[in-house]
Parts: sequence; C-alpha cells; structure tokens
Amino acid sequence: MKMDVLLGLQWGDEGKGKIVDVLAPQYEVVARFQGGPNAGHTLEFDGIKHVLHQIPSGIFRPQILNIIGNGVVLDPIVLKKEIDALEKFSIDYKKNLLISKKATIIIPTHKLLDVALETAKGDKKIGSTLKGIGPTYQDKIGRVALRVGDIHSPNFREKYDTLVEKHKTILSFYSHPLDGLAEMEAQFFAAVEFFKTLNLIDSEYLVNDALNADKKILAEGAQGSLLDVDFGSYPFVTSSTTMAAGVCTGLGVAPSKIGEVFGIFKAYCTRVGSGPFPTELFDVEGEAIRKEGNEFGSTTGRPRRCGWLDLPALRYSIMINGVTQLFMTKADVLNIFEEIKVCTHYELPNGDRIDRLSFEISELHVQPAYKVFKGWNCSLAAVRSYDEFPVKLKDYVSYLEEELQVPIKLVSVGPDRVQTIFR
Ligand code: GDP
Ligand code: IMO
Ligand code: MG
Repeated sequence: MKMDVLLGLQWGDEGKGKIVDVLAPQYEVVARFQGGPNAGHTLEFDGIKHVLHQIPSGIFRPQILNIIGNGVVLDPIVLKKEIDALEKFSIDYKKNLLISKKATIIIPTHKLLDVALETAKGDKKIGSTLKGIGPTYQDKIGRVALRVGDIHSPNFREKYDTLVEKHKTILSFYSHPLDGLAEMEAQFFAAVEFFKTLNLIDSEYLVNDALNADKKILAEGAQGSLLDVDFGSYPFVTSSTTMAAGVCTGLGVAPSKIGEVFGIFKAYCTRVGSGPFPTELFDVEGEAIRKEGNEFGSTTGRPRRCGWLDLPALRYSIMINGVTQLFMTKADVLNIFEEIKVCTHYELPNGDRIDRLSFEISELHVQPAYKVFKGWNCSLAAVRSYDEFPVKLKDYVSYLEEELQVPIKLVSVGPDRVQTIFR
C-alpha cells in the first residue's frame, strides 16, 4: 500500500483541515509531517466549528489513528489546550493520538526568540505567527533541540536549562525582555507532565508497518507550497519542507511509498503575513473576497490578503509536488462576482511576458495578466452534485483543468463537510 498526501498549493489556508476530515473515512491513519502550531485547520460539521493546530484532522473520526510525525515542531502547552478543547467530543485521544518521540519540542524561549528576531527585521518582517516555529527548526538543524522522547530522560531539566541559557544569550544580544517567561515555563512543565501520559512512539515503524499491512494512510500537509523553505517566496516562508518531499523525512517513508498527491487550492488566492503576492487586490474586490470568504487567520485572526487565482504559481506548485489530483475549495466565495479573473501569466515593465517563478521574480515588478470570466452569480449553498453546478462554474473548472493538465476531482462549495462535491 502507498501513502496518499494532501497538501496546500498556495500560501496556506486552502481548506486542508476540512478536506482531510471529509476524506478521513477512506483511511485508517492520518498523519501530520511538518509545521506546528503555526497551522490552523478548520473543520465544520453538525453545526460545530473546530480549529486544530497540531492534532491531525482525522481526530473526529473514532476509527482513525492520528499521528504527529517526527517532522513536526510541537508545543506541549498548545497541545494540552487542544486536547482540553476536544474533551467535550469524548475523543479517546490516549488511543487515537500517537506522537513521534523524534518530533521536536517548542520551548517558551523559542517563542520569545521568534518575537525578538521578527522585531529586529523591522519593515522586512516575515509576518510570522510567532509560535516559535523558525527558532525551533533552527535548533533542530543546529542539533541542540529537545525532542519529545527526551521528556522521559532523567536529565531533561538539565538539557532544557542548557538550551534556555543559549537562548537567553541571544535574547540579550537583541535586548529582548524576558517578561512572562516564568509563567510560560510553569505552563510548559505542567504540560510536559501531561505529555508523559500520552502515547509517544517511534512513529516511522507504525507508519511502515501499517503500509506493509495494506492499511491506508493520508499525510496532512500544513502551510502551503509557496511557503516552503526551499521553493516558497524566500525569505517570506515558513521553516519547514511543506511540499510532498517533506512527507518522506517528516514521517520516515520512502519516496517509492508515496501514492496519490492531492493538491488543494482556493478558487482565488490569499496570503497572511508579508511577501510577494502578484495578484493581490487592494480595492473593493479584494475587500469583497475577504468578507465573503471570511478571510481572517485561523491561528492569529489577522486579515488575510486576497487576490485572484494565479496560474503560473499554481503550475509551479503542481510541478514541485507531482500533484496527481486537484481539489478546489471556496468556489462559493466567487458567487458574488459579475466577473472573475484568472492570472494566466505575468508581464514585465518592458512588456515581456513570463510564466515561471524564477529566483529573481520578486525583484522584477511583474504585473499579472488576466483572463476574465463571466461569474455564475448564484448561491451554491444547496448544491450537492456536479450536475447541479451552474454552467459558468463548470466552464471555470474545465478551463482550469485544461490549463493545469491535472484533473480537478473535488470542488468545495462551503465550509461544512456536506458541502463537498466529488467529480
Ligand atoms: P487550512 O489551514 O488549509 O486547513 O484552512 P483554514 O481552516 O485555515 O481556512 C480555510 C477556511 O475556509 C476555514 O474557515 C474553513 O471553514 C473555510 N472553508 C473551507 N472550505 C470552504 C469552502 O469551500 N467554502 C467556504 N465558504 N469556506 C470554506
Ligand atoms: P495552515 O496550515 C497561512 C505564514 C505566516 C508567515 C510565514 C512564516 O493553516 O495553512 P511562521 O509562523 O511559520 O514563522 O510564519 O508563514 N504561515 C501561514 N500562513 N497558513 C498557515 O498554516 C501558516 N503557517 C505559517 O503568516 O507569513
Ligand atoms: Mg489555516
């Protein structure tokens, strides 16, 4: 059996959480392979709306094992809060949630460092979620981080103190105050005690044993391909490998074990945080998308920057991930528009046309060139099959399929589980 992957093709928030929850009944295991509490994955069903940050989006399906893989950076304080919030759903998390002992731990000073490093960047700041992601991955690669399995070590406190001393030296270099640290540490050590009661495993064995036993596994991406540390709009990226290749290092599976790669994209684009965004709208249309799509960050509540769909960027993401099926979300948000635009290529100030995301692209002052479609201008709230789609929406989907050369197998027309149309 091979492992399927679902990942975002834009700048995150494509609706990964919703679709993983919808697909989960087809799988026996759902696994996160990178990122951490910077993610905010929203699920809606039976009138309930729930946002997950580190816990995989299969958690509401009682028969499914949910794994937090070694590639994740995990904040025990956030995990404790997430688990507490699941209490009312009677989820047997001691059985259904498994955590890799090789996952890296976010400690309180990582979050202070995130703030100090962002502040030092001034107007060049990345717009980090300030959850400690960058500093924690730095320590992982620098071979000084704490890992989940370390919490059982008799000298865990000593290892912790050594790392904190190093962080304090860096924080003093930035003249960053240690306000609130003692309180955060108290929360951290309480959460670590709770952590010890959870199911901590060598998840690479579980994953490979499951595949060998013909069990179906879905890897759930966080962030999006355009935030990938290598291929995103560097330096305005996150610090992990968000693309399909990250599944191999983040869960311990061979490349030959990757099956379908589901690439998920919104019918338009959003971005939260700084960095290039060629199709960004600064006018009433952008405001209309934000309002209609409720485009405010699931993790930080920040307003998301909004713009039209960008085909060169989407093609790039499809290429680097080897996407085999496309899923389009939030089609319903475009209901309000008389005209819908799709960026087909970019133009340089001298009129030259480009359609590749080269190293230099962010310096080139490209202008998007658009193809304009007539909008369908009707509600999709009650639509439950592709046959019921307005013709103009069908035309839009067919056009994208033709341009992207990958089938669009799913269209999402609302936040609820049931508002999902398979083709
Ligand atoms: P993720 O990070 O990729 O899981 O996405 P987020 O949960 O951060 O953001 C997606 C938002 O859009 C959430 O509020 C979802 O409830 C919502 N959503 C998902 N799919 C649809 C859809 O098809 N239509 C609408 N209107 N909202 C959707
Ligand atoms: P999900 O999984 C959208 C963005 C931040 C910032 C940059 C770096 O919900 O799609 P970081 O905290 O990683 O140092 O921030 O990446 N970012 C996201 N944007 N969705 C996310 O996750 C994101 N996770 C990080 O806004 O621009
Ligand atoms: Mg999100």
